[in-house]
This record gives sequence, structure tokens and C-alpha cells, in this order.
Amino acid sequence: MKKIISSVLLCLTSAIAFCQTNNADIAIIPQPVSLTKTTGVFSLPQTIVIEAPVTQEMKEVTRFLKERLSVATGINVTVQNAAPSAAIQLLLNKPQDAVIGKEGYNLSVTSKNIIIKANTAAGLFYGVQTMLQLFPKEIESAVPVANISWTAPAVEITDYPRFGWRGLMFDVARHFFTKEDVKKYIDNMVRYKYNLLHLHLTDDEGWRIEIKGLPKLTEVGAWNVKKIGYFGTFSHPAPDEPKTYGGFYTQEDIKELVQYAKERFVNILPEIDVPGHSLAAVVSYPELSCTPGADKYRVRSGEPIMDWSKGAPPIALVDNTLCPANEKVYEFLDKVVTQVAQLFPFEYIHMGGDEAPHNYWEKTPAIKTLMQKEKLKNMVEVQGYFTRRLEKIVRSKGKKFIGWDEILEGGVEPSAAIMSWRGMKYGVKAAKMKHEVVMSPTTYAYIDYMQGDPIIEPRIYAGLRLNKSYEFDPSPDSVDAKYIKGGQANLWTEQVYNMRHAQYMTWPRGWAIAESVWSPREKKNWNNFFNRVEKHFERFDVAEIKYAPAVYDPIFTVSRTADKQLKITLASEAPGLDIYYTFDNSFPDHFYPKYTSPLIAPKEAVMLKVITYKGMKPVGRLIAMPMDELKKRADKK
Ligand code: ACM
Repeated sequence: MKKIISSVLLCLTSAIAFCQTNNADIAIIPQPVSLTKTTGVFSLPQTIVIEAPVTQEMKEVTRFLKERLSVATGINVTVQNAAPSAAIQLLLNKPQDAVIGKEGYNLSVTSKNIIIKANTAAGLFYGVQTMLQLFPKEIESAVPVANISWTAPAVEITDYPRFGWRGLMFDVARHFFTKEDVKKYIDNMVRYKYNLLHLHLTDDEGWRIEIKGLPKLTEVGAWNVKKIGYFGTFSHPAPDEPKTYGGFYTQEDIKELVQYAKERFVNILPEIDVPGHSLAAVVSYPELSCTPGADKYRVRSGEPIMDWSKGAPPIALVDNTLCPANEKVYEFLDKVVTQVAQLFPFEYIHMGGDEAPHNYWEKTPAIKTLMQKEKLKNMVEVQGYFTRRLEKIVRSKGKKFIGWDEILEGGVEPSAAIMSWRGMKYGVKAAKMKHEVVMSPTTYAYIDYMQGDPIIEPRIYAGLRLNKSYEFDPSPDSVDAKYIKGGQANLWTEQVYNMRHAQYMTWPRGWAIAESVWSPREKKNWNNFFNRVEKHFERFDVAEIKYAPAVYDPIFTVSRTADKQLKITLASEAPGLDIYYTFDNSFPDHFYPKYTSPLIAPKEAVMLKVITYKGMKPVGRLIAMPMDELKKRADKK
């Protein structure tokens, strides 16, 4: 008894991590609101009966659960409408449980049965996701696995989300991803209780959605010349190079995707990015440009089209904007938005608004005339005029308008929602102005950024490690929480050519963001999260979903000593790792020197090789860091 009391006391008085060690075999992401481990385990019986409402909304929930419980185990699973003695019961609450809301659930696992209760089918779906995470990782296998004890620990869980908007953005414009790819992306996001897929459907590199009556958008605008290398540095495509790279979704494809997402309780937010990022539209219909000669433009492959050296807004080298002074542009947008509104049932349409260059507008006589007529003082106000007209179009179709945070600058209607990407500050500002806000800041949520050292990661201009993503709090204390709808991570795909790499970029940072938008703030704990991340790496290995192991890689920091020697500090992002290194070009392992304090490199060393271990097991990738690279970093001002 004394032992139990002292354990409870310890649990109450020490870090969450101690309590979690008692639940060491439980690794749920995102962390539930409350989880109590009870005694015993539930074992899957020889044949499984699931009681579940047999409704249209529950069809995918039960199909999915049946598949997960039968494929790896070989167990026969049936679903019945009423089976009070069923081993697994999914029950809709009558009356409603006010605590768990629209998406929450209660999950009870005992040695006798598993019962999930929720107010909605979505809540049951999320309860099922949690339940599956209680079973051994082999449950993720696509083929039967023998000799596994198919048990789940007894628990009582009450769970519901912190935010209603839990999103991932997938840029299908820079590289086209097929309908089947997008479905796979949805399959993986719902494991972690994401409920919103933001599809970035248009950009300079491609227009990806069929619009009836505007055939060139997809005949011309969906195709470019394939280039491989570093995006942004490609040579300009020659006129005779074949424009065969790309693709688009027909309206039937879109309907199929919307339905697929809906069956998994995911809304799709469509984005048509205007007035900037519109080269694919301009190439399709050059009359939408302010600039004579736009008919000579090509859909971009990744050649330089923007000069960022003077900051934002950028200086365009080709005019990739729609012309705010051209009535044809508003007719075009009306046509596009009308069809987008019909295809996507979600209440919002995202109309972009980011990074629009103004230098071509400055040279345009029609813009000068517009400015005089509308009393617009500068180009920011010209963009504001465009945005307000666009918002009216969106609202006229019965939809709400959302855009990137630049739309705040030109004076936007109070009804517009703001997606804050340039850090948190524009989201905070917008919330103070009483706009609805979705936080997706570069600082925490840009999952196109490198997640480890640039010496090993595919190169992109910025980095974002897992532990930083995990610090994401969409609703900081400085704002009134009622304006914050939630948060999302953004996967831009300039450097993402295929689905395996899209997965690599999304996970594990997608877990950090999932926990940031679902779990109570006070439940977040990096060390505890990381323990669970490792378990989910194992689950993804079984499921054959790719993830980045970058969190195991060492972090290099360099400086010069007073006498100009190179001083190298090594650290590990993942807790509890040992770092082994060598300067002699051979491959380090745990027989090599272990890093304990900053290193002074031998004068003529050419390479520092480093690897991390967890106990006796190598976990990080071997990193070969040229000394010249370290010198460059140390001497960078
Ligand atoms: C953005 O990243 N340009 C929204």
C-alpha cells in the first residue's frame, strides 16, 4: 500500500515523464486528453465480432477496422448492427456526451472487451485509430504475421481535440501527385487525427484542376519540361523541349477525392493561388496579364523567375501575376470560383494572395488609371482592391474566403480568414483585428524545410527540426483563443518529386504538428513525445511508410577559437544518444572516440565523420562532413 501511495505521489509531483514510464508499452500520437492504465490485457479472440452502427457514415470506419484487424492477424472479422456481447463495440452516444464534443471519444479496453463511445462517426473513427495504436506494431502489416500475441493493454481513455482545424497542406502544383497519391496521403494523415487537407492546386509550375469552359488551363497550364536538380536554379527550357511533365485532376477526379476524404472525416480546402504564383494561368490565357509579351511565357520548370535579394515583395523577372486592372481577370476568377465552389463542399476557399510581385504593375498604364479611379495610393492598395473584389466573388458563391497573411496588408474585409505563414505574428495581428486565423508558420510548420543537416538532407533554403516543430502552439497566450481555428503543416513540393519523399518530409514532423493541434498544451512533453516517435517509426517500418530518421543525426555547431582554430560542437536532437567520431577518414562506430566536449580539429584533417548510437545500436546516419564545409560555416558572417 505504501508503495502504491508513494508511486501515486511521485506521479502527482514529478514530471509527466515518470507517469508515462508506467505506460511504457503505450505510445499514442497524438497524446490523448486523459489515459489511465488499468490491469490486464485484451486479447483478440479467434473470430472477432464488431458491434457498430451500420450506417453510410460508418461504412469506411468499419471497413478500415475490419481490414486492420484481419489482414495481419488472419482472424475472421464480422460487423453486426446489434451484438451486445461483441468483443469490440463502437457505440454512438444517446444522449450526447458534452465533454468529448463532435470529434472526441471514450475508449475502454478491459480483459473482456473493447468499447468505444462517441457522439459522432468521426469520434468513433478517431477512437479506432487510438485503439489500433494499442496493438502490436505488426497490426500494420499488409501481409499475415505469425507468432504475435495480439493483445492491447487495458486502459480508460477520454479524448477530444484542442482545435477543429487540424490540417496538412499538400502542394500538388509544383509537382503533380496523382489521385491515388492524394488518397494515400489522406490514409496516413487520418491515423493521426488530421481532419483537413489543403490542396495547393495552382502555381507557376502547374494548374491542376479542370475548369469547364477554360480548357487551356489544363491543356497548356498543367504541363512543363521536367528538370531534375536544384529547383530555382534550372536553365530556361528551350522552345523545342517537350512539355510532357505534369497532370491535372478532372472534375470527376475531384469528386472522387472529396468523397474519399469525406468518408475519412477529412475536408478538402482548395487553393487557387492568385494574383501572384499564377504563371500557369497566364501562359494558358496571356490576356489575363498586365504585361505585353506574356504570350511568350512558359509554364515554369524551376528556372529563376523572382529576385528576392531586396526582400518582399520580390522583383519578378517574368510577370507571373493576374492583372488587377483587367475586367477579364474577374470574369475568369468568377468562372473558376463558381466551379471550385460546386466541387468542394468545404465552407472555405483559399485564394492565395502570397508573394505577389508588383514591379510589372508599376509599369502598367491600366493600373495607373485604376489607381486614380479607385484612389489607391500604392501597389499594396492595388492588391487590396483585387483581394476585396475576389472576396466578394467567393462570398457570392456561398463560401468563406481565406488567404495567406499578405492579404491583411491591402485592407481586407473583416470576414476574411487569415492563414499566417510568415511566422506567428501576422496571425496574432489578424486575431487582434478579429479575423479568423489558421496558424501555419514557417517557424514550426513548414515541412518542406530540411529536417537535418544540409550536408545530408535534400537541399532547400531553410531548416526545421522535429523538436522545433514540436514547440508549435497555434494559440499563444497573447491572442483571444476564439479567433484561432487551428493549425496546419505545409508540404511545398518544389523539391519533392515523388510520394516516398513526400512521406519522408511529412513524418515525423507531421506527428509533432498533429499533437500540437490535437492534444492539450499541458500534455506536451518533448522527451515523452520522442519515446512515442520511436515506437511509431517501428510501426511505419511495418506499414512501409517512409519517414525521416534525421532526428537521430548529430547537430554540428562551429566557431573559431581566439587563435583561429576550428572548434566543433556536436549535439544530438534525440535524447539519450552517444556520438562517435573520427577525423582519420575511416568509419566511426562505438569503438571510436565518444564525443564528450567540443573538438579542436587536427590541422590538416579533411573530413569529420560522425555517427550516433543508442546504447549498442547505431541509429543516426553516418555523416561525412568535409572540414572545408565546417570552415565555411565558422567563417560565415
Ligand atoms: C507561402 O509559403 N508562400 C505561403
